[in-house]
Amino acid sequence: MRSNEKPAGLRTGEVAEQAGVNIQTLRYYERRGLLSEPARSTGGHRLYPPDTVALLGVIKAAQRLGFTLDEVAELLDAGRRRHPAPDLRQRAIDKIGEIDARIADLTVIRAALTRLVDARCDSLTNCTCTECPVPFLTIDSSEEFHRVREDLAKQDFAVTRDSALGLHEDTRPHICRTYFTESVLHGDHPAVHRDRDRARDVIRYGWHGDRLAIREHDVVAIRDRSGFRGTRTPTRVRLLTDVLMTTWVEAVLSLIPPHLRQEDGTFGVNFLRTRTNVVAGPHQDDEEYVVIYVADKHGTGAETTLHAIDDVDRIVYRHTLVPGELIVFRDAAFLHNASPLISPIGGKAQRDALVCTVNYRDTYDLT
Ligand SMILES: [Fe+2]
Repeated sequence: MRSNEKPAGLRTGEVAEQAGVNIQTLRYYERRGLLSEPARSTGGHRLYPPDTVALLGVIKAAQRLGFTLDEVAELLDAGRRRHPAPDLRQRAIDKIGEIDARIADLTVIRAALTRLVDARCDSLTNCTCTECPVPFLTIDSSEEFHRVREDLAKQDFAVTRDSALGLHEDTRPHICRTYFTESVLHGDHPAVHRDRDRARDVIRYGWHGDRLAIREHDVVAIRDRSGFRGTRTPTRVRLLTDVLMTTWVEAVLSLIPPHLRQEDGTFGVNFLRTRTNVVAGPHQDDEEYVVIYVADKHGTGAETTLHAIDDVDRIVYRHTLVPGELIVFRDAAFLHNASPLISPIGGKAQRDALVCTVNYRDTYDLT
């Protein structure tokens, strides 16, 4: 090579700029095996092959399709070896199924949003526009909401189910497909729970008479909870960009009887996947209300029990929630517990549940 000829490769900065990624990302991909370590120029600079920019485009596209970086690495590796791993085809088929399901979800959501925009709706649940076309929920006309509020006021707990609340029938399948996935959930801190996967959102709510205003809270970190001293920051999801989940959040918050509501506060939504012990034993969460909504379950067990606050041996209420059912109770009124999951014959137990807390005002700094 003559000294004035451009070297046959791209420098780090050039690759980063052309691919629209930063330099740290290149190093990170190298460590994860997505990019092979590049050759060096005589001056010691990294020289990437010119097709690296295209490769980065493929990696980003695969990530947008929902593949994790580990999956992308495997796919690339299989492609390089030209001997695809035996399960690769099946995994690609599964991923196509996931993508189809997400497209179906997005189509439902898009149609709902279009109707909402056209009609100038001001709320998903209590819209005041004439002949509101949004079919999700009409809280004030639902007797079920009144029943739940009465039960809560009378006995500090209530059980209901999604269909009785008038929630869109796609809500639960949508939750399972969108949030209970390996790319969203991440293992909880091992000191808190050995085999529990979690994702979380925290929503700020405010009641103005009958009207509910909600927005995303700025932090989701959990401080000094579940016997763990310190701060855990779980993977965050943002439910308020999701029409079905926005409705779900509004519906659940509306279950609290008006005279027992705080004017404003936070609502923590935890997507919890458990496979063995659901919780360690009877306990309280030091929150105002606890809500458990089961989205999916394999196996038996996981019976929810509410124990008398002054006598843990006295069970006030016991019930094994099936998918679609929701229990809400005032945390200070009981110790609550759940029995371990029991695997089905020849299979593995798993429960996917949304465990939510209507928090006390001082749980988060709301200033
Ligand atoms: Fe709890």
